[in-house]
Amino acid sequence: MKDKTFLMIPGPTPVPERVLSAMAKHPIGHRSTEFSEVLKKVYSDIKEVFQTKNEVLIFTASGTGAMEAAISNLVNPGDKVLSLIIGNFGERWAKIAEMKGAQVTKYEVEAGEAINPEEVKKILEADVNKEYKIVTLTHNETSTGVTNDVKTIVSYIKKHGAISVVDGITSVAALPCKMDEWGIDVLISGSQKGFMIPPGLSFLAASEKAWKKHEECKNPSFYFNWKQNRKSVLEASTAWTPAVNLFVALDTALQMIKEEGLENLWKRHERLGKAIRAGVKAIGLKLLAKDEATASNAITAILPPEGITVPEIRSTMKKDYDIVVANGQKTLKDKIFRMGTMGFVSERDAIASIGALEASLYKLGYKFELGSGVAAVIKTLAENK
Ligand SMILES: Cc1ncc(COP(=O)(O)O)c(C=O)c1O
Repeated sequence: MKDKTFLMIPGPTPVPERVLSAMAKHPIGHRSTEFSEVLKKVYSDIKEVFQTKNEVLIFTASGTGAMEAAISNLVNPGDKVLSLIIGNFGERWAKIAEMKGAQVTKYEVEAGEAINPEEVKKILEADVNKEYKIVTLTHNETSTGVTNDVKTIVSYIKKHGAISVVDGITSVAALPCKMDEWGIDVLISGSQKGFMIPPGLSFLAASEKAWKKHEECKNPSFYFNWKQNRKSVLEASTAWTPAVNLFVALDTALQMIKEEGLENLWKRHERLGKAIRAGVKAIGLKLLAKDEATASNAITAILPPEGITVPEIRSTMKKDYDIVVANGQKTLKDKIFRMGTMGFVSERDAIASIGALEASLYKLGYKFELGSGVAAVIKTLAENK
């Protein structure tokens, strides 16, 4: 049967019917009163999801656009940047900063590990002349399925005095991420993950301290210019022609997030993440995340069993069950597969996807106790109500 595709990849994620219907209309004029009313709601509601009082700038661009928007509005050539890297997306911060002429120092750990906050503390304490101006990090590393302890790391960055720049692309609207309470200076996210809408929008909020650093930026971006975009937010407008239908979709998705409640949404992601990990382990597979405490509740990276390849698992799940799981990226390609549980994902999806994984492995000749994964998912969901 065709047309029942279910995306268990880490973005784009499934889009609710309510959102699809809202955006399946003719675009409205982006300078109209009608669109301005949509923007007023969106600009206000998204602050709650970012857990901030700062204005949230919205760009018509993918998540990497917001990454570029962060760096290009802060960095001057020669600025010292410390990049904390636990995977592909942490590495991307370093690349962008280098392209902007920053002097980047990388602190990198092995795939599957999180940053140890105490190591960051040591590095920053050793920087007695306060040379690091900016520290970049990834909250939830999509390429490895590991979540960093942003709260603790940011507290050390704050003590040092550098600006913290956090990639919350797969954490905001999925995992607890409290910009103001934790003292994050720049937080970015993207539409096609926890926000449950298609790709095409990205978000950025900056603290007062980050805005001061922006004032010193000699060559800020034009399209992503912070000042220009904040002026538009305050006028319930957009700087340039926006992806109108995606803003309409975002308005509906934010309503759905409000109805569920952020705490409930975080709890749902936690339950689903735990359930998927329990299911995978019960059938004898290993996770890339080395430690349960830092394993991501938004994305699970799994090693295939001996003798069965990642392409075989992915193609069987797709062909026979219409469930799409992601491959590993770069050096992890064909070494892991990744199951996303962020956004519009429910208990049913967790049970069905581990069921489909079991069925696929069974067909591929893997020896295990059939049903043990699904049983573990059901039990974990029940125990974590
Ligand atoms: C953590 C993280 N950062 C950055 C990105 C890049 O976002 P985009 O592909 O929307 O440009 C992604 C995309 O998967 C991501 O997961």
